[in-house]
Amino acid sequence: MERLFSKLCMLIVVALALQMHGNKGCLENERIALLAIKPFIINATVPYYANVESWVDDHNRIVESWVDDRVSDCCDWYRVECNTTTGRVMNLSLSGLLHESTTILNFSLFQPFEQLQILDLSDNSFRGWVDSRGLANLTNLEFLDLSFNGMSGSLQQENLRNLKFLDLSDNGMNGSLQELGICNFKNLVELNLHWNKFEGHLPPCVNNLTILRTLDLSYNQLTGNIPSLNLMQSLEYLSLHDNNFITLHGIPSFLMYQHSLEFIDLSHNKLGGMFPTWLLQNNTRLQGMHLTDNSLSGILQLPNSTHDLLELTISNNNLTGQLPMNIGVILPRLEHLDLSKNSLEGYIPWSMGEMKSLRMLDLSSNNFSGELPKPFVSGCPSLEWLILSNNKFHGEIFPQFMNMTRLDELF
Ligand SMILES: *[C@@H]1O[C@H](CO)[C@@H](O)[C@H](O)[C@H]1NC(C)=O
Ligand SMILES: *[C@@H]1O[C@H](CO)[C@@H](O)[C@H](O)[C@H]1NC(C)=O
Ligand SMILES: *[C@@H]1O[C@H](CO)[C@@H](O)[C@H](O)[C@H]1NC(C)=O
Ligand SMILES: *[C@@H]1O[C@H](CO)[C@@H](O)[C@H](O)[C@H]1NC(C)=O
Ligand SMILES: *[C@@H]1O[C@H](CO)[C@@H](O)[C@H](O)[C@H]1NC(C)=O
Ligand SMILES: *[C@@H]1O[C@H](CO)[C@@H](O)[C@H](O)[C@H]1NC(C)=O
Ligand SMILES: *[C@@H]1O[C@H](CO)[C@@H](O)[C@H](O)[C@H]1NC(C)=O
Ligand SMILES: *[C@@H]1O[C@H](CO)[C@@H](O)[C@H](O)[C@H]1NC(C)=O
Ligand SMILES: *[C@@H]1O[C@H](CO)[C@@H](O)[C@H](O)[C@H]1NC(C)=O
Ligand SMILES: *[C@@H]1O[C@H](CO)[C@@H](O)[C@H](O)[C@H]1NC(C)=O
Ligand SMILES: *[C@@H]1O[C@H](CO)[C@@H](O)[C@H](O)[C@H]1NC(C)=O
Ligand SMILES: *[C@@H]1O[C@H](CO)[C@@H](O)[C@H](O)[C@H]1NC(C)=O
Repeated sequence: MERLFSKLCMLIVVALALQMHGNKGCLENERIALLAIKPFIINATVPYYANVESWVDDHNRIVESWVDDRVSDCCDWYRVECNTTTGRVMNLSLSGLLHESTTILNFSLFQPFEQLQILDLSDNSFRGWVDSRGLANLTNLEFLDLSFNGMSGSLQQENLRNLKFLDLSDNGMNGSLQELGICNFKNLVELNLHWNKFEGHLPPCVNNLTILRTLDLSYNQLTGNIPSLNLMQSLEYLSLHDNNFITLHGIPSFLMYQHSLEFIDLSHNKLGGMFPTWLLQNNTRLQGMHLTDNSLSGILQLPNSTHDLLELTISNNNLTGQLPMNIGVILPRLEHLDLSKNSLEGYIPWSMGEMKSLRMLDLSSNNFSGELPKPFVSGCPSLEWLILSNNKFHGEIFPQFMNMTRLDELF
């Protein structure tokens, strides 16, 4: 009797479990929410830059799989991924699939997805002011991509404390970075705010984002000093170009300790001081260094040992003096060198013939003189762009031993 009873209990438990999950692994209110998003997907149009065939294919697979019948499990729907334990939606990737389906997307559509970790709504051209209140309960969100949407306003989400990846690039978002609440996102690994209208200072509390690897604030309207980010341990990519940052004492010295740095672009700001030789000396992994259009002065002093830098642009600054004689020995892997619009003078060093990978060289609008040295003309077979105009060169520019078979453009 007791046995029968316990078997019965088992059965009831199993039956209840089946009923709760039914045939569908997903939660009813998440299923309804997805079906509420579907009409926007139906109305979407192919982005002009997309591969039409693959977009149409993706689009059709959503329209065909997201169906409102009681047997289909929304966890199996295309572009929806659930946590297999909880059966809750955790990944919703709709990049490009809502393109121009709506002017303003109301984020409250996403409120039911409380366990969501990944939300990708990039490339959808929602144009309008963001009402981000609907994101407030998505506290598990780790990845949020809203790039390429032309949205204005701000995000203002202090709850999204688990964010590791935040991409708001290519929108028209405005206000200050404090209002955006970036300092709350202490788990951020990648922050991209490229091409927006954020203004004001870069708050010192950004230094608390200690595990950040990528910081891109380029093309905004940020002003003032660049605060010390000396607590950051793993910065690899730093792009602050096209803002109004001002420093009187040169490139910020916290960069001396960013030994993981691979790329830095501080172009088009108002940075003064001397050319930062130490930045190259101390950051041996650096591959790209871009300082164009600032107010750097003094001579182009290079480190004493070889560096594997690939790109160096310092156009439109106030560099003076001659190029280091050993420039080609110190920077033998350079592919792109732009020193145009400075006040550099003297001869082109022979060692530049060591730059076997050099593809683009711009020395225009300086005071260089003399002839192009033979080792350079015969030793840089990769050159595609060579720009020498507005200098005081003389002699035969292209002697017979010239060996630049790939040269495309010459000014
Ligand atoms: C989809 O487009 C139709 C026709 O333009 C419109 O009536 C409908 O409201 C749109 N649906 C959504 C969700 O925007
Ligand atoms: C999220 O889903 C998209 C599309 O289904 C997929 O490409 C991506 O790898 C997923 N992300 C993760 C972290 O699983
Ligand atoms: C799924 O949810 C469980 C319970 O919340 C959690 O422990 C697990 O880490 C989640 N799995 C993934 C892949 O996020
Ligand atoms: C978004 O939807 C919520 C709830 O439905 C509503 O309160 C809010 O006003 C809407 N926002 C916009 C910008 O329409
Ligand atoms: C967030 O969740 C709480 C409790 O679950 C609820 O009371 C509140 O209305 C939710 N807020 C939003 C914006 O959905
Ligand atoms: C952001 O832009 C909107 C519309 O252009 C404007 O109404 C709002 O005042 C701006 N906000 C800030 C903080 O500048
Ligand atoms: C960094 O965070 C700590 C506490 O988490 C806080 O006390 C400190 O003021 C923050 N630093 C900055 C520069 O905001
Ligand atoms: C940076 O370079 C300078 C000069 O070469 C050196 O004295 C200093 O120890 C380096 N700092 C670090 C943290 O590597
Ligand atoms: C270079 O220096 C001169 C005078 O010191 C100044 O007038 C000029 O604006 C500077 N140019 C740049 C690009 O900083
Ligand atoms: C390179 O070495 C010379 C002499 O050995 C020294 O004067 C100079 O400061 C060094 N340059 C750097 C950038 O360390
Ligand atoms: C080149 O040198 C002359 C004087 O020798 C000077 O007047 C001129 O400003 C210099 N040009 C540049 C671009 O530095
Ligand atoms: C020209 O360059 C090629 C390699 O790109 C090299 O093999 C050849 O020896 C060079 N010729 C001269 C005259 O330097």
